[in-house]
Amino acid sequence: MPHDERPASHVFWERCIRETIAGGIPEKWGKSIFDQDSQLALEFLDLLPNGGDVLDFGCGLGRNAVSLARRGYRTVICDVVDEGVRYCEANARDEGLANITSAEFDGSRIGLDDAVMDGVLAWSCLDHVTLRHSEELAMELGRVARRGALLLVAFDEDKSDDPDSESRILDDGTHQYIGGKREGMLFRPYSNDEIRRLFSNDWEVVRFMGEDTLVPRRALFRRSG
Ligand SMILES: C[S@@+](CC[C@H](N)C(=O)[O-])C[C@H]1O[C@@H](n2cnc3c(N)ncnc32)[C@H](O)[C@@H]1O
Repeated sequence: MPHDERPASHVFWERCIRETIAGGIPEKWGKSIFDQDSQLALEFLDLLPNGGDVLDFGCGLGRNAVSLARRGYRTVICDVVDEGVRYCEANARDEGLANITSAEFDGSRIGLDDAVMDGVLAWSCLDHVTLRHSEELAMELGRVARRGALLLVAFDEDKSDDPDSESRILDDGTHQYIGGKREGMLFRPYSNDEIRRLFSNDWEVVRFMGEDTLVPRRALFRRSG
Protein backbone atom coordinates (compact mmCIF):
# COMPACT_ATOMS: atom_id res chain seq x y z
CA MET A 1 0.00 0.00 0.00
CA PRO A 2 1.50 3.43 -0.89
CA HIS A 3 2.55 5.31 2.21
CA ASP A 4 -0.06 8.06 2.04
CA GLU A 5 -2.98 5.63 1.62
CA ARG A 6 -2.35 3.85 4.88
CA PRO A 7 -4.71 4.59 7.75
CA ALA A 8 -3.38 7.29 10.10
CA SER A 9 -3.36 4.73 12.90
CA HIS A 10 -0.84 2.54 11.03
CA VAL A 11 1.33 5.60 10.42
CA PHE A 12 1.13 6.40 14.14
CA TRP A 13 2.27 2.90 15.17
CA GLU A 14 5.02 2.87 12.59
CA ARG A 15 6.33 6.19 13.97
CA CYS A 16 5.98 4.94 17.52
CA ILE A 17 7.86 1.70 16.81
CA ARG A 18 10.61 3.44 14.80
CA GLU A 19 11.15 6.03 17.55
CA THR A 20 11.18 3.37 20.22
CA ILE A 21 13.81 1.34 18.38
CA ALA A 22 15.90 4.47 17.69
CA GLY A 23 15.65 5.78 21.24
CA GLY A 24 16.26 2.51 23.08
CA ILE A 25 13.51 0.31 24.47
CA PRO A 26 12.18 1.51 27.85
CA GLU A 27 12.24 -1.20 30.53
CA LYS A 28 8.44 -1.38 30.55
CA TRP A 29 8.42 -2.44 26.89
CA GLY A 30 11.58 -4.51 26.99
CA LYS A 31 10.42 -7.06 29.52
CA SER A 32 7.82 -9.57 28.42
CA ILE A 33 4.57 -10.18 30.28
CA PHE A 34 5.83 -13.74 30.86
CA ASP A 35 8.83 -12.44 32.78
CA GLN A 36 6.87 -10.11 35.05
CA ASP A 37 5.10 -12.64 37.25
CA SER A 38 1.78 -11.74 35.68
CA GLN A 39 -0.55 -14.35 37.17
CA LEU A 40 -2.68 -14.65 34.05
CA ALA A 41 0.32 -14.86 31.72
CA LEU A 42 1.73 -17.71 33.81
CA GLU A 43 -1.63 -19.47 33.77
CA PHE A 44 -1.66 -19.17 29.96
CA LEU A 45 1.78 -20.85 29.84
CA ASP A 46 0.70 -23.57 32.29
CA LEU A 47 -2.28 -24.49 30.15
CA LEU A 48 -0.49 -24.43 26.78
CA PRO A 49 0.77 -27.75 25.41
CA ASN A 50 4.59 -27.94 25.58
CA GLY A 51 6.16 -26.70 22.36
CA GLY A 52 2.76 -25.76 20.94
CA ASP A 53 1.97 -23.15 18.30
CA VAL A 54 1.34 -19.64 19.59
CA LEU A 55 0.39 -16.51 17.66
CA ASP A 56 1.51 -13.15 19.05
CA PHE A 57 -0.99 -10.90 17.33
CA GLY A 58 -0.11 -7.17 17.34
CA CYS A 59 3.35 -8.21 18.51
CA GLY A 60 4.90 -4.72 18.48
CA LEU A 61 8.63 -5.21 19.02
CA GLY A 62 8.09 -8.84 19.89
CA ARG A 63 9.05 -8.85 23.58
CA ASN A 64 6.40 -11.48 24.32
CA ALA A 65 7.11 -13.55 21.21
CA VAL A 66 10.82 -13.83 22.02
CA SER A 67 9.97 -14.90 25.54
CA LEU A 68 7.57 -17.57 24.23
CA ALA A 69 10.16 -18.83 21.73
CA ARG A 70 12.78 -19.07 24.48
CA ARG A 71 10.34 -21.30 26.32
CA GLY A 72 10.19 -23.61 23.32
CA TYR A 73 6.88 -22.61 21.72
CA ARG A 74 6.64 -22.37 17.94
CA THR A 75 5.82 -18.69 17.78
CA VAL A 76 4.22 -16.76 14.94
CA ILE A 77 4.26 -12.97 14.99
CA CYS A 78 2.18 -10.47 13.09
CA ASP A 79 1.48 -6.77 13.25
CA VAL A 80 0.36 -3.98 10.95
CA VAL A 81 3.83 -2.47 11.33
CA ASP A 82 6.60 -4.34 9.52
CA GLU A 83 9.43 -2.63 11.42
CA GLY A 84 8.42 -4.27 14.69
CA VAL A 85 8.13 -7.68 13.04
CA ARG A 86 11.57 -7.29 11.40
CA TYR A 87 13.09 -6.07 14.68
CA CYS A 88 11.76 -9.14 16.48
CA GLU A 89 13.03 -11.48 13.74
CA ALA A 90 16.50 -9.90 13.95
CA ASN A 91 16.55 -10.38 17.73
CA ALA A 92 15.45 -13.98 17.31
CA ARG A 93 18.25 -14.59 14.76
CA ASP A 94 20.85 -13.00 17.06
CA GLU A 95 19.73 -15.30 19.85
CA GLY A 96 19.67 -18.35 17.62
CA LEU A 97 15.92 -18.84 18.11
CA ALA A 98 14.72 -20.72 15.03
CA ASN A 99 11.16 -21.09 16.27
CA ILE A 100 9.86 -17.58 15.49
CA THR A 101 8.23 -17.00 12.12
CA SER A 102 6.01 -14.21 10.86
CA ALA A 103 2.60 -14.32 9.19
CA GLU A 104 1.42 -11.89 6.55
CA PHE A 105 -1.21 -9.48 7.80
CA ASP A 106 -3.09 -6.94 5.69
CA GLY A 107 -4.92 -5.32 8.60
CA SER A 108 -7.81 -7.79 8.41
CA ARG A 109 -6.68 -11.26 7.45
CA ILE A 110 -3.84 -13.18 9.03
CA GLY A 111 -1.88 -15.33 6.58
CA LEU A 112 -2.50 -18.58 8.45
CA ASP A 113 -4.74 -21.57 7.78
CA ASP A 114 -7.80 -22.29 9.90
CA ALA A 115 -7.37 -23.96 13.30
CA VAL A 116 -3.57 -24.07 13.49
CA MET A 117 -2.78 -22.33 16.79
CA ASP A 118 -2.78 -23.71 20.36
CA GLY A 119 -2.48 -20.26 21.85
CA VAL A 120 -3.18 -16.69 20.78
CA LEU A 121 -1.93 -13.55 22.45
CA ALA A 122 -3.52 -10.17 21.74
CA TRP A 123 -1.92 -7.90 24.29
CA SER A 124 -2.91 -4.23 24.26
CA CYS A 125 -3.73 -4.17 20.57
CA LEU A 126 -7.45 -4.81 20.00
CA ASP A 127 -8.26 -1.58 21.83
CA HIS A 128 -6.28 0.35 19.19
CA VAL A 129 -8.82 -0.21 16.42
CA THR A 130 -12.50 0.71 16.10
CA LEU A 131 -15.12 -1.50 17.72
CA ARG A 132 -16.25 -2.96 14.37
CA HIS A 133 -12.67 -3.72 13.43
CA SER A 134 -11.94 -5.40 16.76
CA GLU A 135 -15.04 -7.56 16.27
CA GLU A 136 -13.66 -8.66 12.89
CA LEU A 137 -10.22 -9.29 14.35
CA ALA A 138 -11.67 -11.29 17.24
CA MET A 139 -13.36 -13.55 14.64
CA GLU A 140 -10.08 -13.84 12.77
CA LEU A 141 -8.28 -14.90 15.95
CA GLY A 142 -11.02 -17.50 16.45
CA ARG A 143 -10.50 -18.76 12.89
CA VAL A 144 -6.81 -19.53 13.33
CA ALA A 145 -7.24 -21.15 16.77
CA ARG A 146 -7.66 -24.90 17.28
CA ARG A 147 -10.55 -26.15 19.33
CA GLY A 148 -9.49 -25.89 22.99
CA ALA A 149 -6.83 -23.25 22.21
CA LEU A 150 -6.14 -20.46 24.69
CA LEU A 151 -6.48 -16.75 24.11
CA LEU A 152 -4.84 -14.19 26.37
CA VAL A 153 -5.89 -10.56 25.94
CA ALA A 154 -5.22 -7.21 27.59
CA PHE A 155 -7.21 -4.02 27.25
CA ASP A 156 -5.66 -0.83 28.56
CA GLU A 157 -7.15 1.64 30.96
CA ASP A 158 -9.05 4.61 29.56
CA LYS A 159 -6.49 7.09 28.16
CA SER A 160 -8.97 9.75 27.17
CA ASP A 161 -7.95 12.24 29.86
CA ASP A 162 -4.49 12.94 28.40
CA PRO A 163 -4.25 16.76 28.20
CA ASP A 164 -1.40 16.56 25.65
CA SER A 165 -3.40 14.82 22.96
CA GLU A 166 -6.44 16.20 21.24
CA SER A 167 -9.03 13.64 20.24
CA ARG A 168 -12.50 13.28 18.83
CA ILE A 169 -14.91 10.51 19.67
CA LEU A 170 -16.28 8.43 16.81
CA ASP A 171 -19.83 7.01 16.79
CA ASP A 172 -18.73 3.70 18.28
CA GLY A 173 -16.92 5.37 21.19
CA THR A 174 -13.42 5.11 19.66
CA HIS A 175 -11.12 8.02 20.51
CA GLN A 176 -9.33 9.19 17.40
CA TYR A 177 -6.34 11.36 18.24
CA ILE A 178 -6.00 14.33 15.94
CA GLY A 179 -3.19 16.24 17.61
CA GLY A 180 -0.33 15.94 20.06
CA LYS A 181 1.99 13.02 20.51
CA ARG A 182 -0.75 10.48 19.94
CA GLU A 183 -1.86 11.94 16.63
CA GLY A 184 -3.24 9.14 14.46
CA MET A 185 -3.72 6.69 17.31
CA LEU A 186 -7.10 5.06 17.90
CA PHE A 187 -8.14 3.97 21.35
CA ARG A 188 -11.47 2.37 22.19
CA PRO A 189 -12.14 2.12 25.94
CA TYR A 190 -14.03 -1.12 26.74
CA SER A 191 -16.42 -2.05 29.49
CA ASN A 192 -16.01 -5.50 31.01
CA ASP A 193 -19.19 -6.66 29.29
CA GLU A 194 -17.95 -5.42 25.93
CA ILE A 195 -14.73 -7.40 26.31
CA ARG A 196 -16.71 -10.53 27.14
CA ARG A 197 -19.08 -9.91 24.21
CA LEU A 198 -16.21 -9.41 21.77
CA PHE A 199 -15.13 -13.01 22.23
CA SER A 200 -18.48 -14.60 23.03
CA ASN A 201 -18.92 -16.31 19.61
CA ASP A 202 -15.87 -18.52 19.72
CA TRP A 203 -14.42 -18.34 23.21
CA GLU A 204 -15.36 -19.20 26.79
CA VAL A 205 -13.97 -17.21 29.72
CA VAL A 206 -11.41 -19.06 31.83
CA ARG A 207 -10.51 -16.05 33.97
CA PHE A 208 -11.24 -12.32 33.84
CA MET A 209 -9.10 -9.86 35.81
CA GLY A 210 -9.48 -6.16 36.56
CA GLU A 211 -13.17 -5.60 37.12
CA ASP A 212 -12.50 -1.91 37.80
CA THR A 213 -12.64 -0.27 34.37
CA LEU A 214 -10.01 2.31 35.34
CA VAL A 215 -7.28 -0.32 35.38
CA PRO A 216 -6.09 -2.55 32.52
CA ARG A 217 -8.26 -5.60 32.05
CA ARG A 218 -6.78 -8.98 31.22
CA ALA A 219 -8.63 -12.13 30.33
CA LEU A 220 -7.96 -15.72 29.46
CA PHE A 221 -10.35 -17.58 27.16
CA ARG A 222 -10.59 -21.07 25.74
CA ARG A 223 -11.71 -21.77 22.16
CA SER A 224 -15.05 -23.53 22.22
CA GLY A 225 -16.19 -26.25 19.84
C1 LIG B 1 0.58 -1.02 22.72
S1 LIG B 1 1.36 -1.87 21.41
C2 LIG B 1 1.46 -3.53 22.08
C3 LIG B 1 2.53 -4.35 21.44
C4 LIG B 1 2.72 -5.76 22.00
N1 LIG B 1 1.48 -6.52 21.97
C5 LIG B 1 3.31 -5.74 23.39
O1 LIG B 1 2.61 -6.14 24.35
O2 LIG B 1 4.47 -5.34 23.53
C6 LIG B 1 0.03 -2.00 20.23
C7 LIG B 1 0.38 -2.80 18.98
O3 LIG B 1 -0.82 -3.01 18.22
C8 LIG B 1 -0.47 -2.91 16.87
N2 LIG B 1 -1.65 -2.63 16.07
C9 LIG B 1 -2.27 -1.45 15.85
N3 LIG B 1 -3.31 -1.62 15.03
C10 LIG B 1 -3.36 -2.93 14.71
C11 LIG B 1 -4.19 -3.72 13.88
N4 LIG B 1 -5.18 -3.21 13.17
N5 LIG B 1 -3.95 -5.03 13.80
C12 LIG B 1 -2.90 -5.59 14.50
N6 LIG B 1 -2.08 -4.89 15.28
C13 LIG B 1 -2.30 -3.58 15.39
C14 LIG B 1 0.55 -1.80 16.82
O4 LIG B 1 1.30 -1.78 15.63
C15 LIG B 1 1.37 -2.11 18.07
O5 LIG B 1 2.42 -2.98 17.75
